[in-house]
Amino acid sequence: MSASQASRITVVGAGHVGMITAQKCAEKELAREIVLLDVLAGRPQGIALDLNQSAAVEGWSSRVLGTNDPAATAGSELVIVTAGKPRTPGMSRSDLLLVNGKIVESVADYVRVRSPDAIVIVVTNPLDPMTALMRAKLAFPARRVLGMAGVLDGARLSWFLAEELGVGVADVDAMVLGAHGDSMVPLPRASTVNGVPVGDLLEKGAIARISERTQNGGAEIVNLLKTGSAFFAPASGAVAMAKAILRDEKRLLPSTCLLNGEFGFEGVYVGVPAVLGRNGVERIHEVPLDTQARIAMQKTVGAIQKDVDALRQLGLM
Ligand code: 2OP
Repeated sequence: MSASQASRITVVGAGHVGMITAQKCAEKELAREIVLLDVLAGRPQGIALDLNQSAAVEGWSSRVLGTNDPAATAGSELVIVTAGKPRTPGMSRSDLLLVNGKIVESVADYVRVRSPDAIVIVVTNPLDPMTALMRAKLAFPARRVLGMAGVLDGARLSWFLAEELGVGVADVDAMVLGAHGDSMVPLPRASTVNGVPVGDLLEKGAIARISERTQNGGAEIVNLLKTGSAFFAPASGAVAMAKAILRDEKRLLPSTCLLNGEFGFEGVYVGVPAVLGRNGVERIHEVPLDTQARIAMQKTVGAIQKDVDALRQLGLM
């Protein structure tokens, strides 16, 4: 057991993303107890039993509790919210606003009361407006409510760059800012292979093609799977953020955070480079943006604001 281990964390939603998130949290022993909560009777309990039995082979010592009862989440230090409907082919993430907005609202109701000191990482789509909605409903300090998308989108960009260059993906560091949607802002200028800027290694055309594939990275997987969306890399992204927070790693990870003048925006949740530690979002780093990236940030913030306005019209915010 790690000395800096949390006593309880909760993963809300036992779909593919939630299930794998719980598994990774357990394997990394991020908490003594990992509560996996879902509305579906039997599913979280079955997954928890299976996971706990896998510990006999794997040797980790966290305990996974599967439950349908929000009371079991009380006193969680961190809550990762994965509950919600996934996209199917032809759907945009924004098509999920109403159905997932209601789910986020119901989760916020018990997290606010039962885990008032928790740090909350939202994974539910459409990510940026759902994170804004979660913050509005929780009324927690903004540093304790953030969203996971940039780590996932950056991972996709890293993988495509590694494939194009024929290098190991572990050597690729790529940054993606903005919304978790078609308007996201890949930053090839801030992307490197072991310190070498990708602009020195690839032609502009190849970089543009890879950036566009990253922007459509989620839809590419939805179209292949046909029945749902990606789950391994989203879970990896959420757990990297959870670990950075719980272990106070001070990692600089692109995260969906509330801006307070940074990058020239006020009062909007959007993906930006943030230092994550035991206090949640400890700092936002304003990396320099070229003109093209600045214009793209305006556009992506506009897209998020449109979704937030739609949430207001739906009476959810
Ligand atoms: C994705 O991009 C599910 O939004 C998630 O795959």
